[in-house]
Amino acid sequence: MKFDVKTTKPEAEKVDALALGIFEGESSLAADVKAVDDALGGVISDILAGGSFAGKGGSQVAMPTGGKIGAKWLVLLGLGKAADWKLDNWRQMAARVVASARDLKLNTVGAPLPDRGRLDASAPDLGQALAEGALLGNYSYETYKTERDEPKVGVDTYVVFAGHYDAADLDRGIADGERISTAVCLSRDLVSAPAKDLTPTVLADKAKLMAQEVGLTCQVLTEKEAEDLKMGAFLGVAKGAMESQPPRFIVLEYLPNKGEKPLVFVGKGITFDSGGISIKPAEGMEKMKYDMAGGAAVIGAMRAIASLKLPINVVGLVPATENMPGGHAIHPGDILTAMNGKTIEVINTDAEGRLVLADALAYAEKYDPECVVDLATLTGACVIALGHQAIGILGNNQTLIERVSAAGERAWERCWQLPLWEEYNDQIKSDIADMKNSGGRPAGTITAAAMLAKFTGKYAWAHLDIAGTAWEEKGRPYAPKGATGIGVRLLVELARDYAAQKAAKPAAAATA
Ligand code: BES
Ligand code: MN
Ligand code: ZN
Repeated sequence: MKFDVKTTKPEAEKVDALALGIFEGESSLAADVKAVDDALGGVISDILAGGSFAGKGGSQVAMPTGGKIGAKWLVLLGLGKAADWKLDNWRQMAARVVASARDLKLNTVGAPLPDRGRLDASAPDLGQALAEGALLGNYSYETYKTERDEPKVGVDTYVVFAGHYDAADLDRGIADGERISTAVCLSRDLVSAPAKDLTPTVLADKAKLMAQEVGLTCQVLTEKEAEDLKMGAFLGVAKGAMESQPPRFIVLEYLPNKGEKPLVFVGKGITFDSGGISIKPAEGMEKMKYDMAGGAAVIGAMRAIASLKLPINVVGLVPATENMPGGHAIHPGDILTAMNGKTIEVINTDAEGRLVLADALAYAEKYDPECVVDLATLTGACVIALGHQAIGILGNNQTLIERVSAAGERAWERCWQLPLWEEYNDQIKSDIADMKNSGGRPAGTITAAAMLAKFTGKYAWAHLDIAGTAWEEKGRPYAPKGATGIGVRLLVELARDYAAQKAAKPAAAATA
């Protein structure tokens, strides 16, 4: 799909469909809506007066125009109350604009921007949000579909009527939104792929390919190298599948600024989580191909950051392995020694995410990071606590937690903090090792993070539990059913924030 920013009048443009947003409870039509209404002999006013469409959020009407305006179809999209409008509504609106045309099997759609001064986002933010909403809403995972009910019709052009916004600024935002959306879709593709086809080796190959495409470096450590590094926790998890699918530790480096400390992003990369010897119940196990969503978010974010050419050093680490039962698999009761020398009693082989992350967090220390953010589908408890709306966030540095959460607000990948109090450590005390890998059912998300905290070294660290948010069960405007690609946009926002701060600092020093 391509975007075409125009400064022409919506009623004049030749498009298949013109989609107009209508706010709920407004007594007069916006100027651009009024112009279309006049050209159509008052049909919009009639519809609103009739009471069957009132601009309620999510509501919609479509009708042919009879050739009275440039567009063949008119679609009215209910936007809800203007007072509730926020940046994310622009994403949702763009997704609905595209969906309305797609449902009518049309190729081109145009939409003016709701012309209300109080709703303004900056033109670049707005352009980015529109592109994200349209492209992410239009995503579908079709790699394995060979049959379809009808021939595929797709929207190929989205005409954005600039209105009072600067067209060049909108264009810049759209270009950013396109780069970011490509990265989110890459992440979704990786998460959706079945475990048979997305093994640790394949994931590493795909990361390498991506790295070549956008010009960053990718190094892949094999089991041999992980052994030399004494990554006993990561390798412990990998043992069950060592013969069939060896693990890979993926290292992505984007270091444009010589000598600056990097941000380090760490993503859980369990390409299939059967639970291991502590095997999971059959029901729902097929979903556990998405247990590498954290790793996919890191790979996607690295792609976006490099393609946006952000002036900030970033490193991505993805410990990738299957978690499988088998004759070589670790047993409950086994004790593993992680890279930093600490010992872990494995109470439950299904608590494997924290084991692979333990070594990755210890490895991160070698970069002397500015901060470390890890993302993981780590605990079922997080789904119970926060459902599918919020990412669970915990960490060792409140400033970083707030900065990550603010990035999450901007991206509308929102985080909610849980406490990481010292007292929770009691639950993971082991009688015979330094810790155990399960703290039982109470506060499962917190005790998992409490274990991670023992491997974080000196740096500021935030942990994001995305177990509830990485997979969409029902479908939302720009998150169709399936993998959401969550985390990519949040990490991009965070990297932008650090890049902006770096840029601002020397200037501040100069004026002081
Ligand atoms: N990958 C799972 C967590 C998970 C569960 C993600 C459901 C998404 C949906 C993780 O490896 C796991 O199995 N965690 C266990 C930990 C327990 C054994 C201490 C859990 O949450 O039950
Ligand atoms: Mn597990
Ligand atoms: Zn897992």
